[in-house]
Amino acid sequence: MMGMRCRWLTLLLGLLWSLASGQLAAQDRTARPVGTTATPTDTLAAPPVLQNRSTVPGVVEVTLTAAPARLPLMPGAPTEVYAYNGRIPGPTLELHEGDRVIIHFRNELPEPTTVHWHGLNLPADADGSPFYPVAPGGQFDYVFTIGPGTAGTYWYHPHPDGRAGYQVAKGLYGAIIIRAADDPLPASIPEKLMILSDNRLRPDGSIDLPDPDSPQGQVDMENGREGDVLFVNGQIMPTLPIRSGEVQRWRIINAAAARIFRLALPGQTVLQVGSDGGLFERPVEVGEILLANSERVELLVRGDGPPGGRTMLQTLPYDRYVPQTRPTDWNRARDLVSLAYSRQPPLPRVALPSTLRPIPALDTGQAVVTRVVVMTQGLINGKVMDMSRVDFHGRLGTTEIWEIENLVGMDHPFHLHGFHFQVLDRNGVPEPSRRWKDTINVPGHETVRIIVRFDGYAGKWMFHCHILDHEDQGMMGVLELN
Ligand code: C2O
Ligand code: CU
Ligand code: CU
Repeated sequence: MMGMRCRWLTLLLGLLWSLASGQLAAQDRTARPVGTTATPTDTLAAPPVLQNRSTVPGVVEVTLTAAPARLPLMPGAPTEVYAYNGRIPGPTLELHEGDRVIIHFRNELPEPTTVHWHGLNLPADADGSPFYPVAPGGQFDYVFTIGPGTAGTYWYHPHPDGRAGYQVAKGLYGAIIIRAADDPLPASIPEKLMILSDNRLRPDGSIDLPDPDSPQGQVDMENGREGDVLFVNGQIMPTLPIRSGEVQRWRIINAAAARIFRLALPGQTVLQVGSDGGLFERPVEVGEILLANSERVELLVRGDGPPGGRTMLQTLPYDRYVPQTRPTDWNRARDLVSLAYSRQPPLPRVALPSTLRPIPALDTGQAVVTRVVVMTQGLINGKVMDMSRVDFHGRLGTTEIWEIENLVGMDHPFHLHGFHFQVLDRNGVPEPSRRWKDTINVPGHETVRIIVRFDGYAGKWMFHCHILDHEDQGMMGVLELN
């Protein structure tokens, strides 16, 4: 009965969404000529998929190499970068639930690194945490199995002790897409991947990584390093063609070290269908999305503009800063992707499912402990990370509640390795809908309570602020499960 009612409600929502969209389209608010060809050129190139060397069904065996390279990040002088398999972003690791994954990794960088498979539930020695550095010239095989129910959008990045921010700024990041055999969304919906990132370059093309003692270095340490150039899949303001009425499925990853994106398509809403740990129970209509560092979203975006028109995917101003280091231009919307409408006549409305999959609520009555995690600037529970210290001891198979308090004025996105959690409440206000998360933004002076069940693997797991400069400064702790 309940299910029935929910379905009707969602159907109604869907209907309202289409009505509102139709209205906006009728106002013809963005009509700007795009060109004379029927279909604008797609410049939002997604990175290539890592080629599977295995012929065994259910086994994905790939090779990944991190090495210095010279690549043109911007028109003009090429940049000395670090790259996975010679490109930025790195190739996409595409997997299916149930896959056995073997990644032959080679470190050809002049420094130690790791590859962290952000958001995946895997053995601790395959997590690429700072506990498992790969020496320069060294190799490591990451081996893990993708569990059921984990289909979603994830990403990989280096996680060596104290150097994650540097290596990501140099170009090391890539997407992971995990697919389910029973994906509830129609396969006919075209899928677009958008890996968001930013960087700051000097006029000679080199990456601007200032001395930590310089004024800019100090600001970078406080805010986390932001760049003035915004990249989507390594490109600057690419064009994504869409047809009026067409629905696209967007997977968006915030791979920036510190920038929080507040995404919006001016004048229209979108349906959010998923976040870090995959699909929601049902689509949620949203006008904008706050995407903190390392968070992911899946959206259904309808082409609401008129044929031949153009609309911008923007990031709106978001004040995550303390007044002392707030950038002067923070209050400026920035364009990310140009959504260009073909001149073809509008497509008829696509039928979308009103329910996606069940997400059983973790039971607070089962929680064996409530831990308090206090974040202050650069510290967790008053301490700097120490790899020889275990901050929390827990047991596999148990459920815990973590109360994460941010005592300072700027946002700190909190991330836990190895396990997905559910948000119970923010500042005491229950979370309106259930979703699987591995990162949650905790705005200044706010408290978030999460619940997690440690189903998976024993070992040491990191939890930290995902502003990479903060993480590198030691705003990180160790959870040991046995
Ligand atoms: Cu994406 Cu420990 O991080
Ligand atoms: Cu992680
Ligand atoms: Cu932080």
